[in-house]
Amino acid sequence: MLLPALLALHLLSTYVTASSASCGCSSLAIPVHVDVLVPTDPTDAFAGLKSNASSLRRVDDTYDIYGVFCQPDTASVKNTDVLQILVHGFTYTSEYWSPPVEEFRNYSYAAFSCDRGLSTLAIDWLGVGLSSRPENASDVQYPTVAASLSQIARHLKNASILPGIPPFKKIIGIGHSAGSAILTFGAIVEGAKSPFDGLILTSSLILTPETLPTLPLPSARDENPLRWGTLDPGYVTTTDDRSIFYPVDPTAFSPRMLIFDTFTKDVASVSTFVQLATSSLEAQYTGPVVKVLGTEDQLICGATGRCDDLVALTASEGVLWPAAQSFDIVAIPGSGHVMTLDFFAQGAFNVFVGLVNKFSGL
Ligand SMILES: *[C@@H]1O[C@H](CO)[C@@H](O)[C@H](O)[C@H]1NC(C)=O
Ligand SMILES: *[C@@H]1O[C@H](CO)[C@@H](O)[C@H](O)[C@H]1NC(C)=O
Ligand SMILES: *[C@@H]1O[C@H](CO)[C@@H](O)[C@H](O)[C@H]1NC(C)=O
Ligand SMILES: *[C@@H]1O[C@H](CO)[C@@H](O)[C@H](O)[C@H]1NC(C)=O
Repeated sequence: MLLPALLALHLLSTYVTASSASCGCSSLAIPVHVDVLVPTDPTDAFAGLKSNASSLRRVDDTYDIYGVFCQPDTASVKNTDVLQILVHGFTYTSEYWSPPVEEFRNYSYAAFSCDRGLSTLAIDWLGVGLSSRPENASDVQYPTVAASLSQIARHLKNASILPGIPPFKKIIGIGHSAGSAILTFGAIVEGAKSPFDGLILTSSLILTPETLPTLPLPSARDENPLRWGTLDPGYVTTTDDRSIFYPVDPTAFSPRMLIFDTFTKDVASVSTFVQLATSSLEAQYTGPVVKVLGTEDQLICGATGRCDDLVALTASEGVLWPAAQSFDIVAIPGSGHVMTLDFFAQGAFNVFVGLVNKFSGL
C-alpha cells in the first residue's frame, strides 16, 4: 500500500527532448512503499513462489523510483487517457527507451510515441540508475521490483503524475527482456487484480533455471571500482562485450551504438538475473498480452530454431497465460535482443504503438 504521506511526487527537472518539438519531459522521483516476502536465498530462481514460509523473509521499506515522464504538448495531445510504463532490461536503465545523445536521438521510443500522441513513464528499476539502491542487493528481487511498479501504476490511475494532468484511465506495461519478466512476475502474483491494462513483453520468452543464458556477471565493484567500489558484491554487471545483445550481422546496427551501450551499462542484483526463470510459471492475468521478439535475438532465439515456427511458439508460450484476454507473438525481422537499438528499431516502435492503441481501445 502506498502511504498517504508519500503521495507527492518529487519533480527533479523539466526539459524538452531534442528529438521532438512537440514533446515535454520531466524527471520524477516517485516514492513507493513495498511490503513483500522475498526468499532468504537471493539466488532462488523462483523468487520465493515455490518456497515454504520458513525460507522467506519480509522486506518492508520505502524507496524512491526514478522515472522520466514524457507527454505530447497540450496543443497536439491526442490521448490523455493512456500511459505507457516502460521497464528496461538487466544492466540497462530508463535511458534504454531514449538514448540521451544527439547521434541516437531517433532511437527514442519515448519521442516516437510522443509524436503519435502517447505519454510514457520510463522508470529505473529499484537498485538501478537513479532509483534508490538498497545497501543489501538481496533486497532487490522480483517481488520488490514488481511491487514497486504495480504500486506506481495503481497510484497513477488515481492521482495526478504532475499538476494539471488527470489520472490515467489505462496503463500499458512495456518491458524489455528481464523488464518483461518483472512485469510477468507482477502478473503472476496479482492476476486479475493487476493495475496494468495490457502487457507488451519484448525480448522475453519462457526461461527455466536450465535454459538461462550464460552471461559472465562480474561484481560491479570489481568491474569498475571507481564508479561502484562501495557496492555490495550482490550488485553485478556485464563484461564490456555486449555484442550478444545485437544481431550477429554487423551491418544490422551501428558499431557506435555498441560502444555507447557498453559505456552506459549499469548494475543490477544477481536475483534479477536468476529470477528470469519465474517466466516459466503460469499467470492468471486477464488483460491482453503480446510478446514481441527479434528474429535475430542471440539470447532467446539464437541458433535453437525456437523462434522459427511462430505458431508453435505462440502455443507453447500462451499456455502460461490461460486467463489472458488475448495472447499473441509478433516477430520483428532482423532485430536482435535490444530491438530498440538496432537499425530495425522503427519497425519495433510501430508495432508497440499499434499494440498500445489496440489495448487501450483506440
Ligand atoms: C522449507 O524449505 C527449506 C528450504 O528449501 C527446507 O530445508 C525445509 O525442510 C522446508 N520446510 C518444510 C516444513 O517443508
Ligand atoms: C543481506 O540481507 C540478508 C537477509 O537479511 C542477510 O542474510 C545478509 O547477511 C545481508 N548481507 C549484508 C552484506 O548485509
Ligand atoms: C485515491 O485517491 C484518493 C484521494 O487522493 C485517496 O483518498 C484514495 O485512498 C486513493 N485510492 C487508492 C486506491 O489509492
Ligand atoms: C536513425 O537514423 C540513422 C541514420 O539515418 C539510421 O541509420 C537509423 O536506422 C535510424 N534509427 C532509427 C531507430 O530510426
